[in-house]
Amino acid sequence: MFYLKKSKKQMIALCLSAALSVGSLTAYAATEYWNDASTKPAVETKTPISDNTNWEQWKAGWDNLKTNYEQVALTPGADFSKLNFGWYSKEKTDKAMVRIADNKEMKNAKEFKGTCEAGTIINGVQYYSNKVTADGFKPNSTYYYQVNLNGKWQQAQEYKTGDPDNFSFMFVGDPQIGSSYKQKNDESNGKKLGNDLAARNDSYNWNITLNKAIEQHPEIDFLVSPGDQVSVKGTENAKDLKEQEDQYSGYLSASVLRNLPQAVAIGNHDCSSASYQNHFNNPNPFLEESTPTPAGNGYFYSYGNALFIVINAN
Ligand SMILES: [Fe+2]
Repeated sequence: MFYLKKSKKQMIALCLSAALSVGSLTAYAATEYWNDASTKPAVETKTPISDNTNWEQWKAGWDNLKTNYEQVALTPGADFSKLNFGWYSKEKTDKAMVRIADNKEMKNAKEFKGTCEAGTIINGVQYYSNKVTADGFKPNSTYYYQVNLNGKWQQAQEYKTGDPDNFSFMFVGDPQIGSSYKQKNDESNGKKLGNDLAARNDSYNWNITLNKAIEQHPEIDFLVSPGDQVSVKGTENAKDLKEQEDQYSGYLSASVLRNLPQAVAIGNHDCSSASYQNHFNNPNPFLEESTPTPAGNGYFYSYGNALFIVINAN
């Protein structure tokens, strides 16, 4: 992971190509460099951004966490004044809804409506993909948002805007939840981790990594990932697709992602199923792309005077 800061007068255009796996001939590349979550000491002190840092608790909660497919992903809007929301729901509604206020009590909240369409079927259950764009965001301001999930307003979450003329973003490569597949850990008695235990391990570390990044750089305005948010490709069969969705659950569960927009590209592990485009509500998709993937398209957005072009290189 590294960290970029853009000064006021620079004009940058960034081309972020989707991740290319290096040297892997198999579908699931075992990583040489990985962190074994089972050897981590429990973190005693909790801060607001350090949820779920106890490994024993994480393991106990994993079955619930991985099947919570209805977590919200914030993505950048087409420009600074907008914010996009994407989330799965079990219920179909005529209009997906988000409301925004400048207070936690959601007094005088403004409501925004979007689309709700049939999305991924997980374990025989039809999930719907909800997408809403909210706008009117001003620099250096604190907002609260609520999404409406299955007819109920969810807990209000904070969204703080930065300065479009002087901003920072965090760049992560291949979060790839589940890429510890085939590693052996301290607790596996010499056995290699399967997809499920690899996802449990990696999403635990992903949460901690993002927490540490934000602790060190609280000024970060959004996250950029050039692809491979998950490891399983989700194309073989229903079990494979469920494992991919479990990994998306682990990926999206990182606590800072409730408050931080993320601009994610389509990696070669994400490109073969529609789950990527069902989770992430990207602005300005290149619908005329000559080689679209089941995951969708590249897209672009601006932030201040910077233009970000996210290429689907698959
Ligand atoms: Fe990768």
